[in-house]
Amino acid sequence: MNRLETSFAGLKLKNPLIVSSSGLTNSVDKNRQWEEAGAGAIVLKSLFEEQIMLEAARMQNSEYSEGNDYLQTYYRGHCLNEYMELLKGTKSVCTVPVIASINCYSDAEWTDFAHSLEEAGTDAIELNIMAIQSDLNYKYGSFEQRHIDILRKVKKGVKIPVIVKLGSHFTNCIPLIDQLYANGAAAVVLFNRMASPDIQINTKSYIGGEVLGHPSDLSEVIRWIGLTSARVPNLDLIASGGVWDGAALVKTILVGASAAEVCSTLYRHGADQVKAMLQFVETWMEENNYQSIGQFKGVMNAKQIKDGTAFERTQFFKYFSLKE
Ligand SMILES: Cc1cc2nc3c(=O)[nH]c(=O)nc-3n(C[C@H](O)[C@H](O)[C@H](O)COP(=O)(O)O)c2cc1C
Repeated sequence: MNRLETSFAGLKLKNPLIVSSSGLTNSVDKNRQWEEAGAGAIVLKSLFEEQIMLEAARMQNSEYSEGNDYLQTYYRGHCLNEYMELLKGTKSVCTVPVIASINCYSDAEWTDFAHSLEEAGTDAIELNIMAIQSDLNYKYGSFEQRHIDILRKVKKGVKIPVIVKLGSHFTNCIPLIDQLYANGAAAVVLFNRMASPDIQINTKSYIGGEVLGHPSDLSEVIRWIGLTSARVPNLDLIASGGVWDGAALVKTILVGASAAEVCSTLYRHGADQVKAMLQFVETWMEENNYQSIGQFKGVMNAKQIKDGTAFERTQFFKYFSLKE
């Protein structure tokens, strides 16, 4: 038996290392290489709601205004067709589960695409719901509700598993995750990484911040997977953020993740990192007498700690009050 086997969202994976949605997964050739490198599943580069809308708007402003409607339809179709080719091509060369990804912030017309993706053979759909809430008149809870509305609308059109990837800017994501579960989410990914802003002080211009994540991103993922897996125990959770090596992958499973979506370390270290990470997990399991992922999944989540010390405020209190 393959001791690295795991499952989430009704999908069976030969191991818990998923190549995360990004430029790493934007071509059939790259995806074939991830399969050959040993990845357990692949999440395709996202189809962005904005991307489609921006392309449509650009056509609207173009000089060919007469043919506008036709061109808009063509342009949307074209963008989608490219994505369909990526999906179908990847499915034709990969045996591992392939998950299409949609980066969205509303339940507008893109929700129809989900059905096309299902027809094109995606094993699941991951919804990366992402938007910064900065409106002065923001109504508390409305962004959370939008997640549920989007999930419901997509689920109406498809039978395949729908996975929701969350950003990390919630005060408390657990009630939202519980609601996503109640509304049929097959799994939740914690967390997406947002592109960050920075400033060039000599030119006084806005620039993009660090593109890649950092191993230290892992601690927030450990905290929230550790808490959520204890409080919403029947929902599959996927770690994303700061999983840079095999030890980090082990940690995410110990706190309750079924698998981890891995990105920045693969950008930095390349495909060999997949094998190195999986080798580490396997050796660690052997040394700790674990025959399966299930044997240690969640054994260190918040349920195991009576007062919640490791994940919540008390750790902060202990660290600063007792050390100084
Ligand atoms: C260059 C780059 C491109 C990304 N593109 C996407 C994307 O298209 N869709 C998505 O859901 N996440 C995207 N992400 C986020 C990653 O999938 C992942 O969730 C995040 O980087 C955290 O994982 P990491 O710490 O292993 O990098 C991207 C990340 C990077 C660094």
